[in-house]
Amino acid sequence: MKKFLSTLMLSLFVAAAAFVTSCEGPEGPAGPAGTAGADGKDAQLKCATCHNDTLRDVNLIFAQYNLSRHNTGTIYLDEAGIIGCGGCHTGDGFREAVSLGKDDPASLATSKISCRTCHTIHNNYDQTDFALAITEGFNLRYKGDADDAAVNFKTGNICAKCHQARSYNRGGETDTWAVHSPTAPYSRFGPHYGAIANVLAMKGLNKIEGPEAYPTNNVHGNLSKGCVTCHMGSNPKNPAAGGHTFRMTVAQMSTIESCKGCHSDGIPTARAAEIKPLLAEYRALLIEKGLLYSTEGEPGDAHYNVLGEYPKLETPGTARQVPKALSDVVLNYLYIAKDRSLGAHNPKFIYAIVKNGVEYLKNN
Ligand code: HEC
Ligand code: HEC
Ligand code: HEC
Ligand code: HEC
Ligand code: HEC
Ligand code: HEC
Repeated sequence: MKKFLSTLMLSLFVAAAAFVTSCEGPEGPAGPAGTAGADGKDAQLKCATCHNDTLRDVNLIFAQYNLSRHNTGTIYLDEAGIIGCGGCHTGDGFREAVSLGKDDPASLATSKISCRTCHTIHNNYDQTDFALAITEGFNLRYKGDADDAAVNFKTGNICAKCHQARSYNRGGETDTWAVHSPTAPYSRFGPHYGAIANVLAMKGLNKIEGPEAYPTNNVHGNLSKGCVTCHMGSNPKNPAAGGHTFRMTVAQMSTIESCKGCHSDGIPTARAAEIKPLLAEYRALLIEKGLLYSTEGEPGDAHYNVLGEYPKLETPGTARQVPKALSDVVLNYLYIAKDRSLGAHNPKFIYAIVKNGVEYLKNN
């Protein structure tokens, strides 16, 4: 480090000196020679552990991360600086919240999500700098009527900490869908956009009665690395999927070794094929009944905009009182639509939620 810095400072000094001498008068007498500095450590070598043109692994990680929405996403640009959003939308806010043992940061919401959000960079200058910021299980922000809020997705805990529902207040017999702005025709009531941890853990969603029984466990709830087993799997044929892109496609899943124990004949798609049209029907029924405000797109479309769907107010700018049972059905839709896995996160549970929601809306 010292040697690197002294080389850097020396070149800056030489550049500055060249600039200065070019516009100064005659040179003064030379000063006395200084004492030699202590020998620095070989910083070049240490730095090259990670900064090295031939290091395929780390360079591949940087290249993959460039594709990730954590890196390219525009939400940070809108929400940076807001402490209450910083726990999930900024890197330093997330780290501060984690070190305080809280959900939200106290003072920081500045940097975008980067390597430093999940790892400790430039601490020991070796592999230990890639240890994860969170490995332990934690309590969800919102648990609904579940017995407790505890979850544990192993390596995936770091993902779940951000990809979970925001908290919201439920009423007794009726819910109040609060006003978002004086003119908006919708309310922001509900789980927000990243409710995936709740869907995996089956906590926060409402088990409304219907023809389909709810499972008591998630067939995918115990994968060896949780979210990471699927979203960071490597696909040697396509390095632009998995790894630090965090991108998960069904085509990519068939290459993940840890799935083969249960899916020896490839990854099934039957559930997804049932869930997709059911979810579209669910959405259409909510819109027809004046319960959902939607701007564009269908869940599952490549250009589906998760921002475009909210609980609908009857009169723009006026809070709406909604019977609990109806509000339950709207909330369940929001969880599943924003989950966007079409079943993969929890196949039987997601199917039951969607099926029973559609039946409820057809009969009420
Ligand atoms: C253990 C791996 C590792 C070592 C060793 C390492 N770096 Fe880094 N360095 C990184 C990573 C990862 C980033 C990207 C951080 C980010 O974008 O969040 C980075 C970023 C940087 C940056 C860009 C500015 C910044 O801090 O984000 C500079 C400059 C840098 N390193 C210099 C050095 C120097 C000089 C050394 C040796 C003294 C060194 N690095 C050693 C992993 C390492
Ligand atoms: C600091 C909070 C945070 C952490 C930690 C985090 N995410 Fe995210 N993630 C986000 C946010 C915020 C976005 C949306 C970024 C945007 O679009 O601007 C996002 C986007 C994504 C997307 C892209 C979604 C899309 O709309 O295309 C995937 C996939 C994803 N995250 C998976 C993961 C996985 C897997 C992990 C764990 C290895 C993880 N995330 C860890 C906050 C986080
Ligand atoms: C959203 C969280 C997140 C971000 C951002 C992130 N990583 Fe990671 N990284 C992980 C997770 C989770 C693992 C563990 C993967 C596993 O166990 O299979 C990991 C593993 C690694 C490893 C392997 C460590 C080991 O001990 O084998 C390296 C190297 C690494 N990351 C570098 C980076 C670099 C460089 C960046 C920035 C370009 C970065 N990571 C950004 C979550 C993240
Ligand atoms: C069994 C594998 C599996 C597990 C475990 C898993 N996911 Fe997914 N995830 C998927 C699949 C498949 C999709 C749908 C991808 C698609 O079709 O675009 C998806 C979709 C997503 C999306 C939306 C991305 C998009 O491009 O639309 C996010 C964000 C996400 N998962 C995050 C997580 C988080 C966070 C966890 C852990 C709490 C997790 N996932 C656990 C397989 C998995
Ligand atoms: C412990 C066994 C087990 C493991 C390991 C496992 N799965 Fe599954 N998975 C199941 C079962 C059981 C189902 C069927 C659930 C149902 O629909 O009834 C399923 C269903 C699925 C579905 C939904 C299929 C559909 O019909 O649409 C997807 C996608 C999936 N798994 C992906 C994966 C991926 C990717 C992995 C590896 C990361 C994986 N699974 C690992 C047990 C497992
Ligand atoms: C519990 C973590 C968490 C908190 C707190 C949080 N968000 Fe988010 N937010 C997310 C995640 C995760 C996503 C991305 C979900 C995805 O792409 O799957 C997201 C997505 C968004 C989006 C983009 C929706 C789109 O169309 O893609 C906006 C806008 C947003 N958040 C605004 C906010 C604001 C404003 C706040 C503070 C008032 C906030 N968020 C607080 C986790 C959080």
